[in-house]
Amino acid sequence: MDTILNVSKLCSGYGELPVLHDIDLHVKRGEIVSVVGANGAGKTTLLLTITGHLRAQSGQVLFDGQDVSAEPAHAAAARGLIMVPEGGRLFPFMTVLENLELGAYHQQARAQMKHNLDEVMSFFPILAERRQQLAGRLSGGERQMCAVARAMMGMPKLMMLDEPSLGLAPIMVDRVFELVKQLVATKGLTVLLVEQNVRNALQMCQRGYILEHGQLLKTGSGEDLLRDPDVQRSYMGL
Ligand SMILES: Nc1ncnc2c1ncn2[C@@H]1O[C@H](COP(=O)(O)OP(=O)(O)O)[C@@H](O)[C@H]1O
Ligand SMILES: [Mg+2]
Repeated sequence: MDTILNVSKLCSGYGELPVLHDIDLHVKRGEIVSVVGANGAGKTTLLLTITGHLRAQSGQVLFDGQDVSAEPAHAAAARGLIMVPEGGRLFPFMTVLENLELGAYHQQARAQMKHNLDEVMSFFPILAERRQQLAGRLSGGERQMCAVARAMMGMPKLMMLDEPSLGLAPIMVDRVFELVKQLVATKGLTVLLVEQNVRNALQMCQRGYILEHGQLLKTGSGEDLLRDPDVQRSYMGL
């Protein structure tokens, strides 16, 4: 498996304020990788810096062999680096269909929009049923599915999910994570997931990283991290 994302010595923050310190992480094609950490650990900052929404203070982000550290976010998105923001950030007063269409914002995605819409609708039948409904009226789980589906409309190679389990009932968390796993298994997708929901995120990934106060403390297989006494004590109340 080759590496699709390689982050090295990445430092980032807001203005003078440092948040991320010397982050080294990589994701191989076809993998699901989780970065887990508490509220405020720097998970969202990490994703925003990788996409280029936030400019790195130093370090490098290689995506699909290209240095994207200096590129604007829309350029990285057109290369297939697509983020599903926390809460989904759908447009509540637009329909499900309109939200999905907005996901096809670069040229190639627009050219294949009809085909991709059919695929996405058959993968998420609930969205096909609700296509004319306002996105603001979806349930939490449906909203998250719609956000993932909108990201699929951008033809991602790497999908980065920011806390997709936030605010969902446990059964919906399982459902959304299962769908993401199916997308990886069947559509050639690769996933980088950031989560506070440590147990679910480590259960669903091949590899994970523990992020604390802007630093990566540990890495290993999901199984190993789930069994790690420090991880259990700090994040799983055991
Ligand atoms: N726009 C911002 N301006 C200044 N500080 C921020 C901003 N967004 C987040 N932070 C700070 O950066 C740190 C990491 O935040 P964040 O990346 O959102 O963490 P997480 O996603 O893990 O909860 C926190 O201390 C937070 O207060
Ligand atoms: Mg966050």
